[in-house]
Amino acid sequence: MTTGLYDYARLDASGEANRAIFRMEARAIDPASEALFEALVAPLVDAWPGDAAVLEVGAGTGALARRVAQRHATARVHATDLSQEMVAAAARYAEDHPGKTRLTFAAGAAEDALGDVENRWDAVLSSVMIPYLQDTAIDSLAARLGAALRTGGVAVFLEQDLATDSLFHPDPTLAAKVFGKEARTVGRNHSLGLRAALRRAGLAVEPTASHLWSTTSFGPYLRDLFGRSVAEGMKTGRLTADEAQRFLGGLAHADAAGDFYYGLVYHRILATKV
Ligand SMILES: C[S@@+](CC[C@H](N)C(=O)[O-])C[C@H]1O[C@@H](n2cnc3c(N)ncnc32)[C@H](O)[C@@H]1O
Repeated sequence: MTTGLYDYARLDASGEANRAIFRMEARAIDPASEALFEALVAPLVDAWPGDAAVLEVGAGTGALARRVAQRHATARVHATDLSQEMVAAAARYAEDHPGKTRLTFAAGAAEDALGDVENRWDAVLSSVMIPYLQDTAIDSLAARLGAALRTGGVAVFLEQDLATDSLFHPDPTLAAKVFGKEARTVGRNHSLGLRAALRRAGLAVEPTASHLWSTTSFGPYLRDLFGRSVAEGMKTGRLTADEAQRFLGGLAHADAAGDFYYGLVYHRILATKV
């Protein structure tokens, strides 16, 4: 979404890291995210070798890394994120994890996390980090990835398709105004465009697999997301306070009536180093 976005490219400086941590973890622990993992990531994890070395970049609160370490009994998973505050939170969330001795955390930009060491990782994962990179940065990240993966290793990206989000609201005209879909821009290397960037880096790109992340309850993640959207809308003068209130009230009403629905398609962009 273009409205209500946290400034994920500079979270520590924005002073919003704590709220972003809350929102990220709320999304990650939603049952819809567990279903997404089962559908798009778990089948890959099951095929990884016993001593698999796994890197996650832009890991946020580390939920994906935790799931991988839970699913694979022996893989070592190194989770990294640009934000030091995110990384500190990720380490805290992993304290009671059964695989905690195989989980490590470090702050760093994705490119730096990949480093200059070649043939190091069996898998490199990323979930919803690419939208915060410019097209040129994505090209150089893909090149670094090509070098850092071991032969046979995979790059796994979970990317949201913002053309697909759907929200039920009793006032569709108001919902369209709050969503501001027409104002969204997608770079050439974002979402499905990432495939071409990975191919240019010499990786073998596999067919895209997709999953509908959907929920029928107005839970903490979406309350924060939409609360943030209307706050931004009011700040920029796009929405009146009355519209903001009617929008959130309409969602609460739909929720109470059992009619709440929000869905968004995630694509798994998968590439192998041959
Ligand atoms: C939308 S959050 C996704 C977090 C997590 N992967 C998830 O799916 O819950 C985006 C994350 O990317 C991180 N990020 C943004 N730019 C980055 C970069 N250049 N390198 C590494 N991480 C970055 C942000 O700090 C933030 O934690």
